[in-house]
Amino acid sequence: MIRTQILGLGSYVPDRVVTNSELPFLNDRHERQETQQSETNDEWIAKRTGIRERRYVPNDGSVATSDLALQAAKRAIADANLEPGEIDCIILGTLSPDIHFPGTAVFLQKKLGIADRNCACFDIRQQCSAFVYGLQMADAFIKTGMYKRVLLVGAELHSHSLDYSTRGRDVMVLFGDGAGAVVLGPQETDDPRAGVMYTAAHADGNGAMDLYLKIFDIAKAPYVDYDARDREQNQAKYPQMDGKRVFLNAVRGMVMSTQAALAKTGLSWDDIAWFVPHQANLRINEKVVEVAKIPADKVLNTIQFYGNTTAATVPLTIDYWRQQGKVKRGDRILASVFGSGFTWGAAIFTF
Ligand code: COA
Repeated sequence: MIRTQILGLGSYVPDRVVTNSELPFLNDRHERQETQQSETNDEWIAKRTGIRERRYVPNDGSVATSDLALQAAKRAIADANLEPGEIDCIILGTLSPDIHFPGTAVFLQKKLGIADRNCACFDIRQQCSAFVYGLQMADAFIKTGMYKRVLLVGAELHSHSLDYSTRGRDVMVLFGDGAGAVVLGPQETDDPRAGVMYTAAHADGNGAMDLYLKIFDIAKAPYVDYDARDREQNQAKYPQMDGKRVFLNAVRGMVMSTQAALAKTGLSWDDIAWFVPHQANLRINEKVVEVAKIPADKVLNTIQFYGNTTAATVPLTIDYWRQQGKVKRGDRILASVFGSGFTWGAAIFTF
């Protein structure tokens, strides 16, 4: 039978490290100021979220989401011992697209130098759940023979759409820039546990306005009716969040999808090498681990130094810990995600 295999993995974060201590001094262009710009501090951020620092792109307009995606994609393609021209499908998850349309996957395709190739390009809009949603799509495409080499990328540029004033501090402290990618392809095997073994994707639109970013309102003409430079009226260009509702639903969604993944596959934690949860808040992950009774030594996190990179967190975390020598080829991973929508899900796959 045909199973989907992860052929390569890559990730990328920009060089600039922004610590919790520096964050309150940044203005809306994330430039460091002499005086404090927002009322937040290292102690609050570290205690409530576990985050100590995050990465930001330069603010000179030289880097877009597709550039972050490109770096991660190149590394994943090289890791798979492939050339970009062998990719016949790109699935790109992001909530920070380069522009409104077309989707960012076509910009990535062009930057990979394969714009003239027969390569399908999908953008998917599942925010922090994009990796599991994209993995499910890629798995279906590969098993049906639709595509043979699928590049799945999660890439986010958050630092340009955060409110660096006290008003936006609840959201602003959480997010960072980064990208992660995998290349997937078919494998002929009789082993029912090989490759991508399980994916499940869920959504509950009742939570749509608990974590959202409007920017524009297409029902209205004009669909942008505020002055983006006026702090009194530009809230629509920043993400809005009911943190407590997101927190509770994230724990519930990730616990339920993790338990369902094991129940439906008949696996136990003895069969799983690593648990890779979405990286939204270390406290969310600690609660999930406690409630779902996950062995603590199997949990991989990177939120402490990358913050929440939304669609990128799962491949970024796996790649980080591979570089540290923990994750090895052939390890079986259970990933569980939750994001805006609400969307959530889980996947079990060997790396
Ligand atoms: N620095 C300092 N104080 C802050 C702050 C910050 N960055 N953000 C909020 N506060 C203040 C609040 O204004 C509030 O002040 P008050 O008591 O005077 O009203 C106080 O801290 C407590 O706020 P609260 O919202 O109750 O904190 P919390 O314990 O719920 O933590 C979050 C806030 C955002 C960290 C938490 O709700 C969370 O992580 N939620 C999930 C977010 C998430 O994961 N989003 C992405 C999902 S994919």
